[in-house]
Amino acid sequence: MKLIEGTVVLVGLQWGDEGKGKIVDLLARDADVVARFQGGANAGHTVLRGDHERVFHLMPTGILHEDTLCLIGGGVVVDPAVLVGEIRDLEAEGVGVRGRLIVSGSAHITLPHHKRLERLQEEERGEQRLGTTFRGIGPTYADKVARSGWRLVDLVDFDRFSAEWRRRSGSDTSADEEWLAEYRDYAGVLREYVGDTALAINRAIDDGKTVLCEGAQGTLLDVDFGTYPYVTSSNTIAGGACTGLGIGPTKIDRVLGVAKAYTTRVGEGPFPTEERSQIGESLRERAREYGATTGRPRRCGWFDAVLVRRAVLFNGVGSIALTRLDILDELEEVPVCTAYEYDGARLESPPETAGALAQCAPVYETLPGWRASTASARRFEDLPAAARRYVERIGDLCGVPVTIISVGPHREETLYRQG
Ligand code: GDP
Ligand code: IMO
Ligand code: MG
Repeated sequence: MKLIEGTVVLVGLQWGDEGKGKIVDLLARDADVVARFQGGANAGHTVLRGDHERVFHLMPTGILHEDTLCLIGGGVVVDPAVLVGEIRDLEAEGVGVRGRLIVSGSAHITLPHHKRLERLQEEERGEQRLGTTFRGIGPTYADKVARSGWRLVDLVDFDRFSAEWRRRSGSDTSADEEWLAEYRDYAGVLREYVGDTALAINRAIDDGKTVLCEGAQGTLLDVDFGTYPYVTSSNTIAGGACTGLGIGPTKIDRVLGVAKAYTTRVGEGPFPTEERSQIGESLRERAREYGATTGRPRRCGWFDAVLVRRAVLFNGVGSIALTRLDILDELEEVPVCTAYEYDGARLESPPETAGALAQCAPVYETLPGWRASTASARRFEDLPAAARRYVERIGDLCGVPVTIISVGPHREETLYRQG
């Protein structure tokens, strides 16, 4: 059975960390091309093979499949240190990257001052801080849009890059010598990987190849459609695949949304179903919800169908992959948020501002728990009746079928279902 065909965009439907890495790794088995289209090293996509856990920040997760071509599109912001580190680690483990990775020369690069600036900005915000990952994402995208950024094509032409850097930054550049030497090294490594990713992906699509676009972050962190200003600086929704890779919307066949069976958020910002109680804490401990990029504890709460329904719309999601169902195994009952109460009214869709969202009280429907292990289930029919009902209810509430169900971090801990 082929798991995917045509051009598929995979996106997170919540605040990131939905388990995209695991699902991309599964689907990449059938993909000829896997492409990242936005975000940067703020992403942390975990893949487990046997006992070996890997977290990818910039490298497309498809790199673990020998025959897959990996692309990093111009919509991504590249931290050269992180990408070079990933290339070197993979090569050291015997995973060949040469000839299998193309990075767009148009991708903007994160330089040391971007990260310093972000720290200062977060400090300055004080209580209003966003809780960013300190990967320099905001300042790098800000420079890009202000048309004063540096791109990978600039970096790999290193002599010109360093001369231009010195010219722009004025007389005293002695403080720059150290990082410039480091970046000369990165430029040397990355030079051979720079290429025309837009041409490569369009050719692959036109040749009938299977293409998987790997979204990073999640819909609620989208700079236009998320809980602004508590968002990241890119378009995380499926439309970002068009602008980040240079493919027309008509070339996308299907959008798969990944959602967790409950909700988490790292960083600041409104989160209506957050459980600040002991229950939230036990969920976090059971699920080991700590950030894959920063190690920060993730805030935990119940599945919010109001927000996911919205996310399904913004992305044109056709089906959902529901992950981490096993985390709910021990619960007596499982609440699902189906609407909000706001200002004396009942809302079926979320308000548009983060301020109003913070004032929303969730309206819960309580479903019976299953109090049994789901990790060994291999078909949908193997799940306890209450777990099947939970999955079906989520599909109904979100308006699209749940076709993939994940009951553990390993590949084989996955169930498939017809849409
Ligand atoms: P991503 O950013 O969306 O790729 O997600 P992360 O990798 O940051 O976080 C997801 C975490 O959940 C990782 O540690 C995965 O190994 C793990 N995971 C994925 N699916 C499942 C699942 O169904 N059950 C459990 N228990 N863990 C899962
Ligand atoms: P993956 O791809 C979860 C969050 C940060 C912060 C906000 C802005 O692993 O799902 P940024 O550093 O992007 O300027 O931070 O976005 N954030 C993520 N949260 N998963 C991610 O990526 C995230 N990438 C950024 O915690 O709240
Ligand atoms: Mg993650």
